[in-house]
Amino acid sequence: TENKLSPQEEISILKNTKNAVILAHYYQEPEIQEIADFVGDSLELAKKAATTNADIIVFAGVHFMAETAKILNPSKKVLLPDLNAGCSLAESCPPEAFQQLKDKYPDHVVVTYINCSAEIKAMSDVVCTSSNAERVINSIPLDKPIIFAPDKNLGRYLIEKTGRKMLLWDGACIVHEAFSIDKLLELYAKYPSAKIIAHPESEEHILKIANYIGSTSGMLNFVKSSDQDTFIVATEAGILHQMQMDVPDKTLIPAPAKEDNSCACSECAFMKMNTLQKLYNCLKDESPEIVLAESLMKAAHRPIKRMMEL
Ligand code: 13P
Ligand code: SF4
Repeated sequence: TENKLSPQEEISILKNTKNAVILAHYYQEPEIQEIADFVGDSLELAKKAATTNADIIVFAGVHFMAETAKILNPSKKVLLPDLNAGCSLAESCPPEAFQQLKDKYPDHVVVTYINCSAEIKAMSDVVCTSSNAERVINSIPLDKPIIFAPDKNLGRYLIEKTGRKMLLWDGACIVHEAFSIDKLLELYAKYPSAKIIAHPESEEHILKIANYIGSTSGMLNFVKSSDQDTFIVATEAGILHQMQMDVPDKTLIPAPAKEDNSCACSECAFMKMNTLQKLYNCLKDESPEIVLAESLMKAAHRPIKRMMEL
């Protein structure tokens, strides 16, 4: 027809008629970030999900994020454009194996990174994200030993930052483990005045040479407030969209991946499973929806609430 609406317009109409809100992570496709009502890091998105007045939350992110939104707001309908949008970290920590570790160390306080399943959260004392992890660890009494799961890279970084002993789960993010230290150093030699910024899910050798380490929002703030004009960015490449809008005159270079791929950077295949078309479909059909058992939501809410209160 003549007045064919764009997908963006169609989504906007559906959103208004259904009183829905679209929350998106910085790793989503630019066109999804652009249509979102709010774009943020894991903690900011969880906070938004907890306080929204919308009836429907469309979560443009990965499964554990949508699950967290549901746990924080069980009366809302939470939709995820593609239910297969998982996370290698969440996958690395199956509940049965984690229970065995907990049983072996019953006196340990269990701190889990938000990148895990609702089942793992339900088995935790407190949850954290990359932007509040240090504060969460420091809130635990000094005489208490700690289990930290599932990210060993973030865990190792936190041990160094806090001086606490922690038993680490052996999980990692495939996206942040894909950076090549050799290629990064080569790049740095070409741009010696650049600042290297990295997400703490990156490997130790990357974090060692980073000038700044922080969450996605932390990195955005660092680039905005720094008087430097060139940055090598070691996190998922989706962040470059918002970052370049924030600092249009600065040079942003994605940290190179070990394997040559289409973007010469590192992209999260899970995050990229969401497309504008799938987002439209899920809002129209109100499916796929995140559905969790009441008892699981209750148990998983406690450690998230504890994090929020800190
Ligand atoms: P943040 O946005 O909290 O830094 O998390 C990054 C990430 O890898 C999410 O999967
Ligand atoms: Fe998980 Fe890594 Fe993808 Fe984040 S970037 S969702 S941690 S696989």
